[in-house]
Amino acid sequence: MSRTEHGSSCALAFDDVSVVRGGRTIWSDSTFQVDAGGFVAVIGSNGAGKTTMLQVILGLVPVARGTVRVYGERPSVLNNEIGYVPQHYDVEASTAIRGRDAVLLGLTGRHWGFARASAPDRKRVDEALEWVEATDIADRRLSELSGGQRQRIAVAAALVAHPRMLILDEPLASLDLRNQHEIVALLARLKRELGVTILVVAHDLNPLLAMLDSAIYLLDGHAHHAAIGQVVDSELLTHMYGTPIKVAHTLQGDLYMRSV
Ligand SMILES: Nc1ncnc2c1ncn2[C@@H]1O[C@H](COP(=O)(O)OP(=O)(O)OP(=O)(O)O)[C@@H](O)[C@H]1O
Ligand SMILES: [Mg+2]
Repeated sequence: MSRTEHGSSCALAFDDVSVVRGGRTIWSDSTFQVDAGGFVAVIGSNGAGKTTMLQVILGLVPVARGTVRVYGERPSVLNNEIGYVPQHYDVEASTAIRGRDAVLLGLTGRHWGFARASAPDRKRVDEALEWVEATDIADRRLSELSGGQRQRIAVAAALVAHPRMLILDEPLASLDLRNQHEIVALLARLKRELGVTILVVAHDLNPLLAMLDSAIYLLDGHAHHAAIGQVVDSELLTHMYGTPIKVAHTLQGDLYMRSV
């Protein structure tokens, strides 16, 4: 898969944005920008509005105030510049479908079956499967795959339309340590080799810390964005999660955080 240079260096621009759902303000007065090509965590306590943030970017939830721009454009569900890996991919996708057809769905949005797809579409599906190293499992049904294998198919389906941004909601939840490591390495490679901007909702940042450039964090009813070194801070995280969090270094010098 190759990629041409995209003009805009600003992936997300939020200007004084407030979101109201069910008559309640979820977060408000939020102004920040995210550069293109970064690996960005989206963090906050349960119910702080992380999924809502993704839905705003995807154009699924309107804002009550302010403006949002995604690569200079208004958010729109028709925007195929964003690939989305939902939190419960295996629930949303029919598990009887074969991996290859699930990836094709990411391209056509319709279930025609791989045999009926055009040659260029089949080529793109094959490329996406190669990218996530899932070629050998592509003809199995989703129900016959492990969680880690299914997550690869989900990433391929999100990737197949060559998006500029990939958004993943808790992609590491329920994966064992090896699969967590492999998915993180895959995301880092997508960022490095394809220049894809990556947004990841995660409760446990530790497996991602070495790769992250920055974080969008939800604190006291507002969304902020800062470099990861500023966000991984005992005081800030303790305040955010409402429980004491310690930030330390391993003997190898890697950063990690844990509750104390
Ligand atoms: N469709 C909806 N209508 C009204 N309120 C909603 C809707 N969806 C979510 N909310 C509310 O918006 C708030 C933020 O929810 P959201 O799902 O964005 O949080 P989250 O940070 O993703 O939480 P979690 O960590 O539990 O996934 C919650 O108070 C939730 O009850
Ligand atoms: Mg959520």
